[in-house]
Amino acid sequence: MSEVITSINQMKEFSKKAILSRKSIGFVPTMGYLHDGHLSLIKKARSENDFVVVSIFVNPLQFAPNEDFNTYPRDLEKDRLLCEQNGVDLIFYPTYEEIYPQNYQTFVEVSFLSKPLEGTSRPTHFKGVTTIVLKLFNIIKPTKAYFGKKDAQQLIIIKKMVEDLNLDVEIVPCEIKRDVDGLALSSRNVYLNAKERAQAICLKKALDKAKELIDAKILDSETIIQSMRNVINSYDLARIDYISINSIDCLSELNEVVLGKTLISLAVFFGKTRLIDNMWV
Ligand code: PAJ
Repeated sequence: MSEVITSINQMKEFSKKAILSRKSIGFVPTMGYLHDGHLSLIKKARSENDFVVVSIFVNPLQFAPNEDFNTYPRDLEKDRLLCEQNGVDLIFYPTYEEIYPQNYQTFVEVSFLSKPLEGTSRPTHFKGVTTIVLKLFNIIKPTKAYFGKKDAQQLIIIKKMVEDLNLDVEIVPCEIKRDVDGLALSSRNVYLNAKERAQAICLKKALDKAKELIDAKILDSETIIQSMRNVINSYDLARIDYISINSIDCLSELNEVVLGKTLISLAVFFGKTRLIDNMWV
């Protein structure tokens, strides 16, 4: 079984030894309830490093009070088995008390990139993400850290944090893993009932529509977004939160798609469940 470490000091000891013996550490931060999306990051980390460390920590700081922190799915035993099967050396599974002791008061924020898109609907979310990721980087001291393009804005923000704070870690972006019907894998997909699950393919369908238009040289953002809205609105259980076309670098809204530099992203509610998806054009 992959070893599980809960103490920060023990984790630091492991990393110290690895660094002293010049071994590379590939790190995959997660909130657990692992699926093939997470596993694709783990496999990539396995192929590129001496040691692979996976963290499992449902980070309360990145959930707003009205969000799903308490109900977020958790299954350490299954996660442990999957880690074992995929060659993970160590699972870092810290306690809340050790990560955020009483009187904890330090936060990291990547200011502008955290505002648009997900930041509009979840204004405190990325401050929670960057704070925990920086803490994990400091504890684990990875050579490389693996992030999915599924959470495109998160990836862009983490890269910026690494650049701005001169961190010695290489951020490795990983492709989005999808179910056979195109739905992007997510731990939150378990919240969907059968009807919602069937309709959840509309996010990918809308992105496919955008791709089709772009391939036909229709690059006007408004036209593309309207076509995507029409796709989503043809599914009666889906409620659009946002559909947006932004620059990959600064996340500013684009009037026209610029090939190689554009992120098309959307968030859609099914009941209380909020799904996100995106495409890098
Ligand atoms: P979590 O949602 O568990 O995701 C962990 C990592 O897996 C993230 O980098 C995410 O982008 C990636 N991932 C999730 N679904 C994926 C998919 N279908 N294809 C490819 N990669 C996928 O993201 C978080 O946790 C947290 O915010 C965290 C970074 C751990 C900080 O708490």
